[in-house]
Order: sequence, then C-alpha cells, then structure tokens
Amino acid sequence: MHAARVRNYLAACFFCMQQEQTTNATFSTKLGLIMATAGSAVGLGNIWKFPYIAGENGGGAFLIIYLVCVLLFGLPLLMVEFIIGKHSGKSAYGAFRELTHNNRWQWLSWSCLLTPLIITGFYFVVTGWCLNYLTEAITNTFNNLSATQLTENFENLQNHTLRMFGYSILAVLLTAAVLWFDVNKGIERLSKILMPLLLLMMLLMAGRVLMLPGSNVGMSFFFEADFSKITPDVVLSAMGQCFFSLSIGMGALITYGAYMPKRQNITVTSLQVVILDTLVALLAGIIIFPAVFAFGFDPAEGPELVFVVLPAIFEQMSFSWFSSVLFFTLLGIAAITSTISLMEVVVAFLTEATAHRRYPLNRHKAVLITAALCIVMISVCILSISGSWQWLVIAGHDMFYWFDKVTSCFLMPINALAMTLFVGWILQKKDVKTELETHHNIVHRTYINVFWQLVRFFVPIAILAIFLNGIGIFTI
Ligand code: TRP
Repeated sequence: MHAARVRNYLAACFFCMQQEQTTNATFSTKLGLIMATAGSAVGLGNIWKFPYIAGENGGGAFLIIYLVCVLLFGLPLLMVEFIIGKHSGKSAYGAFRELTHNNRWQWLSWSCLLTPLIITGFYFVVTGWCLNYLTEAITNTFNNLSATQLTENFENLQNHTLRMFGYSILAVLLTAAVLWFDVNKGIERLSKILMPLLLLMMLLMAGRVLMLPGSNVGMSFFFEADFSKITPDVVLSAMGQCFFSLSIGMGALITYGAYMPKRQNITVTSLQVVILDTLVALLAGIIIFPAVFAFGFDPAEGPELVFVVLPAIFEQMSFSWFSSVLFFTLLGIAAITSTISLMEVVVAFLTEATAHRRYPLNRHKAVLITAALCIVMISVCILSISGSWQWLVIAGHDMFYWFDKVTSCFLMPINALAMTLFVGWILQKKDVKTELETHHNIVHRTYINVFWQLVRFFVPIAILAIFLNGIGIFTI
C-alpha cells in the first residue's frame, strides 16, 4: 500500500517535471513579450491584406467597420487569449485541459492546430512574393516600368511555379532556422530597431504619395464612407481581417500568454499591441490608395494590389533603389516575425502533445515536422494558383483564396467565439480578476465588471450574429 503511494507520488512528480519542461521558454522582460506579440501582429496582414480587402470592399465604409471590430472584438479577444495562456501556463494544446481537467474542450485545441497550418499555406506564398520583390528591387528590375508592365511583372511571377516554390520554401527555412536555434530573443531585440524603422519608412512614403497630383481622390476613397457598399459578407470580412491582423482566434497568443512574466499587465500590453497594429494598417491604406488613384490602378485589384502599386511609388521617390531595397527588407522581416508565431504555435503544440507519449518530440524534431507540413500546404496553394492542378480550383477560386477565406471567415471566428465562451462561462470570475490585476496596478472593479459582461454576453453574441449573417444563415 505504502509502496504504491510512493510510486504514485513519484509518477506525479515526474509528470510535473515534464510539464514544466514544455513551457521552459519565458520572456525575461515585459518589452520582450510586447515586441514578440507586436511582431506577430504586424505583418503582411497590415501591409498586404488590409489595403486589398479594404479596396475590394468599398474603402471608407470598410475602414469604419474594421475599426469598430478592433475595439469591440480585437481588444477583448487579445486579453481573452492572454488570460487563458497565462492562467494555464500551457500552449493551446494543454491549456483547456489544464483549466477544466477534462477533454471536453480538446476539439478547440485541435482547431488551434489546424488554423495556423492552413494560414501558413498562403502566408508563406506571400512572404515568398516579398522575397522575390526584394531581389527585384536589388537588381533594379522594376525601375521605370509603366502601370501595365508592373501588372504583367506580377502575373509573370504567378505563372512561374518554380520561382514561387523557391522563395516560399526559402521563407519556411528562414523561419525554421529562427525556431531551431532559438534565436527568438535576438529577433525581438532586432525588431526593437526595425519596427520603428518600418514605421518611419512608411511615414516618408505616405508623405511622398500625398504630394502626388490626384492623391486626394484616394484619400476620399479611404476615408469617406459609402455605406451602400456594406453587405453582411463585408462585415464578416472586416471581422475576419481584425482577427487575422491581430493574430487572434488560433491560440498564438495563448502560447505567448503562457510565456508571460507574472507581473505583466495584460490590459496595457493588449492595448499597446492593438494601437500599433491599427496604426500600421492605417498607414498602409494612406500609402496605397492615393497612389492607386494617382497612377490609375484599380483599388479592387485583389491580392496583387500592393505588389503592383508599391514599385510605382518607389519610382517617384528620391533614392528609389535604396528606398525600395530598404522597404522590401523591412517588409520581409515583418512577415518573418509573423510566420515565426504561426510556426511556433504548431511546434509548441507538437512538443506538448507528445511529451508524455512513447515518442516525445523534442523542439528540433517538432520544427522539422512543422516545416514539412508547411511545405505541403504551400505546394497545394502554389499548384492551384499556377493552374497546374486544375482540380484544386473550387467554385472558380483557387486554394489561395479558400485557405484565406476558410481561416478568416470560418475557423478564426469559431475559435474566437469558443475562447470567449470559455473565459466567460468556464473560468471563474475571480480567476479572470487575478489575471487582470497586477501588483503594480489594481484595475478598477467597474473595469473588471465591464470586461466580464463583454466576454460573457456581448462579444460571443455579436461574433455569432456577424458570422451567421455573413454566411447567409440568418439575416439581420
Ligand atoms: N497577424 C499577422 C499579420 O497581420 C498574421 C499572423 C501571424 C497571424 N500569426 C498569426 C494571424 C496568428 C492569425 C493568427 O500579418
């Protein structure tokens, strides 16, 4: 009897030790976590996706709905994910089980594995486009091309399957190298310099673009709201874009929350990230739309928008070679800091999920498996874009479109909805309260109450209504 008890005790200790190992990385400083979260949030979603989605959906009216979504859903959901991660100390795989002691929420963990994998399929392809444009900037390829030639230049890239494969795989390898050598801290330190540089560069570009003749038409397109363009689908796209841009709705920030220093203030961190991310998206719009109208492009051009408009802007700038090389370098780095977070979720998931199994995966093996999975997803995407695999085109759209649509308009809203319900109805109010309070800053009781009501009722009901309305099941 006694021996059995000792054995159980030892087994429990061993279990705890292994559990400890899975979350061995912590951010040593508060700034480190803010930089990593901001690095994850600020990326192609702001500079590439936001302008083209806004352009397709009517400009100003989309912008207003987007900003409302960021305030009403973005901020609370960022906090919700941080609370789950910090309270459980686990990644998206273990967090729900740790907090409920049962498997009822395990489906959500699996959904948090599936979502980043699908996103990597198209995200790495676009990161590959950035790297391609960086080499073209270095070799001065797009200097003095007309608007039509710039569009053709992009189409050439799309038809060049091998080149797209090469650059996307290069992007996977760069990200895997960062995760492999655990140089995340170095990247964080680097982004302390690079992120402000990217902002500065964007400010300069905005200044130049606003001096172009005809730029005011673009500004009115971006800032004047024409609500006749708003359909339920546009509202769903705006909400999806908000999730995508802030990296919420797939457990990335649960993983980061688990690494969060105990004394970090969740509210302040989330607010800083939301402000920075929104600023970058706004700046991207202020750069792209005036240029679109000044040079005679179509704002609803689609995913190639930024890639045909940006080179045209650099032609107008002084030091055009230097500006374009610098900009595409910074954009590439912003993209890689986001792919790091996408892959990290999968890596953390795999190591944690196999920790107590017969074949535990260490970090290196997990990185290799994740990279291989990403390459599979990228291949599906590229073969369908270039038309080599016609059967991969469904309902007139290729997999690039579907991967994006399924994640932003389906998986992320559902995951986000489940996570708010989890915090609002499964966690205790006192747990949420302890996570939102720090020793330095006692958050006011009214604030906690407002947050609590938001996550219990308002946010889930609103997400559900927009989602059902967007997919046409229920009309408001
Ligand atoms: N937020 C990033 C961007 O705007 C993309 C991204 C990185 C992401 N990690 C994520 C999106 C996790 C959703 C979830 O480019």
